[in-house]
Amino acid sequence: MKKILVIHGPNLQLLGKRDPAVYGKGTLADINRGLAAEAKRLRMELDLLQSNHEGEIVEAIGKARGRYAGILINPAAYTHTSVAIRDALEAAGVPAVEVHLSNIYAREPFRHSSLMAPVVAGQITGFGAASYGLGLQALAGLTARPSKR
Ligand code: DQA
Repeated sequence: MKKILVIHGPNLQLLGKRDPAVYGKGTLADINRGLAAEAKRLRMELDLLQSNHEGEIVEAIGKARGRYAGILINPAAYTHTSVAIRDALEAAGVPAVEVHLSNIYAREPFRHSSLMAPVVAGQITGFGAASYGLGLQALAGLTARPSKR
């Protein structure tokens, strides 16, 4: 089964309590449950990491090669600041999809730029918790083996 590394960046452990008008009332556990259901449907296996620490995220991405078929990441605030996570994704050797709950382009100007966007396969932003399932579907397509026909 294809293994996918799911990374939830800083402050996402607060979902449900944090700014529900922007991020919704669902918790991170709700998101992970939704992801688990989608992964089962897509015949994928997930390893989940939530971290508030840039270095921990960099290390997890650095160990992904050979272990995971792809990475699903919401880098949260690090999206806009972290050259280290950007470089780790560029060097990862496996495809990554960037997801956001909110539409980062419809928010404050400092959220309009993603350092990750040029080094990921693509970005899904603004669909709430559904962004994660859509991201997993994108990874399923990206990591599909070509058929033998
Ligand atoms: C976020 C958007 C970021 O700008 C913000 O810092 C977050 C969450 C989102 O999922 O909408 O923490 O990545």
